[in-house]
Amino acid sequence: MIKQYLLSPGPTPIPNEVQLAMAATMIHHRTPEFAKVFAEVREGLKELFGAKNDDVLILASSGTGAMEATVSNLFSPGDKVLVVNGGKFGERWLEISKAFGLTPIELKVEWGKAVKVEDVERSLKSHPDIQAVLIQASETSTTVWHPVRELARLTQNGPLLIVDGVTAVGVARVPLGEWGIDALVTGSQKALMLPPGLGFVSFGERAWARVEKAKLPRFYFDLRLERKSQQKGSGAFTPAVSLIFGLRAALRLMRQEGLDRVYARHERMARATRAAATAMGLKLLAPESPSPAATGVYMPEGVNADKLLDFLREKMQITLAEGQDRLKGKAIRIAHVGYMGAFDVLVAIGALEMALKKFGAPVKFGQGVAAAQEVLMEALE
Ligand SMILES: Cc1ncc(COP(=O)(O)O)c(C=O)c1O
Repeated sequence: MIKQYLLSPGPTPIPNEVQLAMAATMIHHRTPEFAKVFAEVREGLKELFGAKNDDVLILASSGTGAMEATVSNLFSPGDKVLVVNGGKFGERWLEISKAFGLTPIELKVEWGKAVKVEDVERSLKSHPDIQAVLIQASETSTTVWHPVRELARLTQNGPLLIVDGVTAVGVARVPLGEWGIDALVTGSQKALMLPPGLGFVSFGERAWARVEKAKLPRFYFDLRLERKSQQKGSGAFTPAVSLIFGLRAALRLMRQEGLDRVYARHERMARATRAAATAMGLKLLAPESPSPAATGVYMPEGVNADKLLDFLREKMQITLAEGQDRLKGKAIRIAHVGYMGAFDVLVAIGALEMALKKFGAPVKFGQGVAAAQEVLMEALE
């Protein structure tokens, strides 16, 4: 078996400690033994979300389920919301809002660009009845970071700010309480270093105040029930016990490293990857406001991105991510999220140099690798 490298922005690699924790003997989910594990993960998640006194609810779903739960618990049919749409996941907010009968106002953002705070401000002024702004912190499809901190200031006394933090929580600091974000969601298969299958939602006080008034139907994702039950030590329904064992191990690893170091590692890997791509003459997808979770790069003229990715996977056992939608065949995304480090960046860049050469691009071996190494050296000081 040849070693495989999973360098995609989700699912991401899983540390052995987490893998082994998930293999533990099954226990019943309404026992003191489970409640103890549950209490520990709730504390760890609160710290990660910067949720101060607020709960972080654990759902058995992928990240999209957590997004849907946010919408169904906060709104009533017809409610007007502003959706920042600058990529695949902005589109997802739009689709969920439409599916639940809201009235979304779409603020389109050019792919590869971050939304401008003034544009959000203008939209809010033109529609004073907007109840919430829905956005990604990290728009994984375009590898853009949106200015959620500034938007939280803007919306402080106005509409709710609802942030999809699927490739942001655990990658960079996005403290819900301190910044005044009203709802923050993520999924397990990114920075949390787990398999897919858990969604996480945290609401601030303003959001909880809306939950009772919201009239959209909800059952499995009724967060009132979940909050009550999770405060007592288990889910309202059967929780994903094994994933929660894994979550405890993952949160312990993050605490051991220290959250500030976790964030610094992601930021450094991202900077190294961008430096490498630039040194190789590749154009970045999001040069102005890049996400620390993944780096998108356009392929040189004449190189089909999807064929190159197939080559990397089939011949080199390296999985990077494709460009989605309008970027299909034109761009690739190199992830640096979760259980990844300096040498994963060097693997990705070294392999990319080799694959590009194979595809006839004018590459000089070592150029990208050297540029990445210069940045990664910082960690050794
Ligand atoms: C920013 C963002 N939001 C939402 C999702 C959807 O999450 P899931 O595929 O876990 O439903 C993803 C998945 O990649 C994502 O990157």
